[in-house]
Amino acid sequence: MFLKRKDLLTIRDLDVEEIKLILETASSFEEILTRPIKKVPTLRGKTIVNFFLEPSTRTRSSFELAAKMLSAELINISAKTSAVAKGESLKDTAKTFEAMKIDALVIRHSSSGAPHLLAKFANFSVINAGDGTHEHPTQALLDLFTIKKKLGKISGLKIAIVGDILHSRVARSNILAFNKMGVKVTLVAPPTLIPLDIEALDVEVRYNLNEVIKEVDVVYLLRIQLERQAEALFPSIREYSSLFGLNLERIREIKPNTLIMHPGPINRGIEISAEVAELPNAIIADQVESGISVRMALLYLLLGGKTGGGG
Ligand code: CP
Repeated sequence: MFLKRKDLLTIRDLDVEEIKLILETASSFEEILTRPIKKVPTLRGKTIVNFFLEPSTRTRSSFELAAKMLSAELINISAKTSAVAKGESLKDTAKTFEAMKIDALVIRHSSSGAPHLLAKFANFSVINAGDGTHEHPTQALLDLFTIKKKLGKISGLKIAIVGDILHSRVARSNILAFNKMGVKVTLVAPPTLIPLDIEALDVEVRYNLNEVIKEVDVVYLLRIQLERQAEALFPSIREYSSLFGLNLERIREIKPNTLIMHPGPINRGIEISAEVAELPNAIIADQVESGISVRMALLYLLLGGKTGGGG
């Protein structure tokens, strides 16, 4: 079974059955990471372009590893090496890659909606690897996969998302994904970092992290995105950290099996202390590992590999 769509642009498009299919397929691919030779022929003959016009470590390299483990050809293009730097439009970029007969393009772009625009003009699959402050759907999928693996279920959990909700494409995709999968979502942030249209999303908003962290199964921290703040939205980093940062003192009262998650890159000492980041229930490295299996699953399900999941 494959996904009945050309592109993955937003979590909004996926129904629960499709999300479950991606997670189950990722589970079947996970075993490949444990093999001495991490390669199966599933996508042999397919060509994938990694088109990253914003910095990335995790997403870019895990898409590359996922494509290579499935034996696809992969080309990396960055902001500096792309003709977009010379003013080429996304429409012309789509037509150029179409002429090269590529099968999929993974795009990260600083403008919200850029992947949607490219997908409109492209006959190949487009995967959104993060667009502006809009969405980061594969991050949400890998987070669901990690939570399911660690806690054995998703539906019925309580998850707090803490920090810079306003600028976070991860928060937007995760709120949508968690809601679809039956999670109760609580947002915790200074009022200036909560989007004005938050009522449109089915979430609770609270301001006291000390109270919330005792009640939830997962504390999901976000990076403060100073690069996207046009003006200061809280008095100081020190004040933010004292009210919304996770440190050893603050987590003394959480349940022992509460998971601490973060999409990365982390700002040690701001949203999470160095000590908390090293705790066994801080599963940031597990999230990174899940990213490879989930992105393998997605490439396979979108490109329709013919030899079966897991090789
Ligand atoms: N989580 C995430 O998107 O990390 P990168 O920016 O390193 O890809």
